Amino acid sequence: MPISVHEGLFEIQTRQTSYVFGVNEQGILQHLYWGKTIAAQECAYRLRSRSHSSFDAQVEREYEEYSFWGGVGYVEPTLKVRFSDHVRDLKMVYEGYRIVTDNGVEELILTLKDAHYDLLVHLHYKVIAEWDMIERYAEAVNAGKTAIVIENMQSAAWAVPYLPQYRMTHVTGRWSGEYQLRDTVLSEGKKTIESRRGFTGPHANPWFAIDDGTATETAGNVWFGALGWSGNWKIVAEKSSFNHVRVTGGINDFDSEWLLQPGETFTAPVFVGGYTPSGFGEMSRSFHRYQREYVLPGAATRKVLYNSWEATTFDVNVKEQIELAQKAAKMGVERFVVDDGWFGKRDSDRAGLGDWYVNPQKFPEGLGALIEKVKELGMDFGIWVEPESVNPDSELYRQHPEWVYHFPTRTGSQLRNQLLLNIAKPEVKQFIIGFMTELLSSHPISFIKWDMNRTITEPGLHGFPAGQQKEIWIRHVQSLYEIWAELREKFPHVEFETCAGGGARIDFGMLRFADQAWPSDNTDAFDRLSIQEGFSYVYSPQVMMCWVTDSPNGMNGRKLPLSFRFHSAMTGSLGIGGNLKEWSEEEIEEAGGHIQRYKEIRHLVQKGRQYRLASLRKSPQAAVQYVSDDRTESIVFAFLHAQNFGGRLPDLKLDGLAEHKIYDIEGIGDEVLQLHGSTLMNAGLPLPLRGDFDSVLISLKARE
Ligand code: DGJ
Repeated sequence: MPISVHEGLFEIQTRQTSYVFGVNEQGILQHLYWGKTIAAQECAYRLRSRSHSSFDAQVEREYEEYSFWGGVGYVEPTLKVRFSDHVRDLKMVYEGYRIVTDNGVEELILTLKDAHYDLLVHLHYKVIAEWDMIERYAEAVNAGKTAIVIENMQSAAWAVPYLPQYRMTHVTGRWSGEYQLRDTVLSEGKKTIESRRGFTGPHANPWFAIDDGTATETAGNVWFGALGWSGNWKIVAEKSSFNHVRVTGGINDFDSEWLLQPGETFTAPVFVGGYTPSGFGEMSRSFHRYQREYVLPGAATRKVLYNSWEATTFDVNVKEQIELAQKAAKMGVERFVVDDGWFGKRDSDRAGLGDWYVNPQKFPEGLGALIEKVKELGMDFGIWVEPESVNPDSELYRQHPEWVYHFPTRTGSQLRNQLLLNIAKPEVKQFIIGFMTELLSSHPISFIKWDMNRTITEPGLHGFPAGQQKEIWIRHVQSLYEIWAELREKFPHVEFETCAGGGARIDFGMLRFADQAWPSDNTDAFDRLSIQEGFSYVYSPQVMMCWVTDSPNGMNGRKLPLSFRFHSAMTGSLGIGGNLKEWSEEEIEEAGGHIQRYKEIRHLVQKGRQYRLASLRKSPQAAVQYVSDDRTESIVFAFLHAQNFGGRLPDLKLDGLAEHKIYDIEGIGDEVLQLHGSTLMNAGLPLPLRGDFDSVLISLKARE
């Protein structure tokens, strides 16, 4: 029974944790404990209000489960509203709870009501018991007769138990350099990570981890959370002068308001949180399993795809695409994807976006001729779209200039020569659903790569009343989710990828609809190692698309061996993105061997347990291991940046194996080594890496 209620105390139990809170004598929902399993009833003595002085009259509100702005509450608020009579103060009184069960998963729902106004708030806690996580979100219901303005509504606040020091881990980045890991010790005040650009963004990603500064990959207490929202978001870690830390997260309240009409409900996105006593590696494995079992729309193994973007950019034509498809098929590719440039007058990024008809010069017989050939070659077919954007130089914009986000007195900023469609308008939403439906019903397309290459600027919501203009940030995301939901329902056989100029729209909100994600436009296999490491803290290797591209790399000129490029890409879901017309017969053949090998091991990469063994942040080598659930199979990828002074690399200690099993090890020299799990995990494995940019793939199989 994961949820139990004892005399004003609520306890949520997961496999190895307890999460406890209660209603104190002031009626405040006070958080009491989150960590290793305890006897929760014994927390009752902690349930009391505490005053320090008239300046800190309700210290326990620093540990409030959900902070309603009003009264003596000064911590980062989770709900702030304005009533129609201009009162801006909440006195929420606990009303009751219920427990619902869906497919064996229990959910606790608490209800609070304002002492005067008919505003109800439901706080949800869905228990992901096996992965020690809880999905939290809040709903506001206007049960009164006048509208209420929501100025700020966060999904949840996570109270971290007392630690002598609090260290926060997160990612930062930018286009082509996403998912870079950072950590910082929290001092009194706030550390905010956020997006105010209209989408999740490449500059930060909505997740956090907190530890006491001593946790490692393999040990230590870590509290963590990730928000499922693909628009403006905010995560605030606030440390008070009483050494309390709470991490609040949800839709960013910057320039945001929501008008809640009588009878309406506003639902905040899910903010999932968890705790592990076993370090960052275990945190990531919990996140990976959770998303595969509770978030992603499907469980299918990712196919090896080819994408023609780097080979042809906008210069797409049927003849060349067929040539590429033939080479890709020869290598063993399973899905052929035509990227940007196939539609309208799209010869560069200056024109054509919005005109979703097949370009007749590039495809005189329509897309059909190419798709037929791709299918004949044994592959399925995918295509790129960017439905939310429009070039001013397009038929669509000439017909509907009022369809873009804009302020009437301003010229809209063009980014990559494009503007953004106001998809909150019902007719714009219908336009997108309409052309996508036409595209997918008139062609046997199995895969859509959905891109979005600019931020939101000049956020004027044409067609909406003055009091609802600030709803744009939320309405864009809601409408996007609705479009994806409708398309997925209409075309259940079509798989989707989320892309935003690389990894700028990847989060648990988008991953409820997308099967896979494009982490970065940076396809340099060496840079990718650190991008992929940061990505893996939360997101599963199954969704992480990695392409093998040309050497020298188009972006930085770096030359890397084909095997290094493959090994780097094989740590996620493999794709090929190089200009195959320039690859030699030997390279095509070698690539075929790697693809074959990937198909043999992808069940481990995509569905196994991932262990990060070594990081370029701390050593000249990176290594990542994947282990089957039953610990009988494993593979290790190791990469060397540069060897100095002829030094011998330290032996690589593996993880996740069965101590007493003996493993046959292939990939180190010509011999098959045989070593115990205990030896491999404690003494380590010698690595055959030398020189610069060397890599190896080692496989282990337990003897019967
Ligand atoms: C940005 C994407 O990230 C690339 O992979 C490619 O699809 C281009 N857009 C096409 O314009």
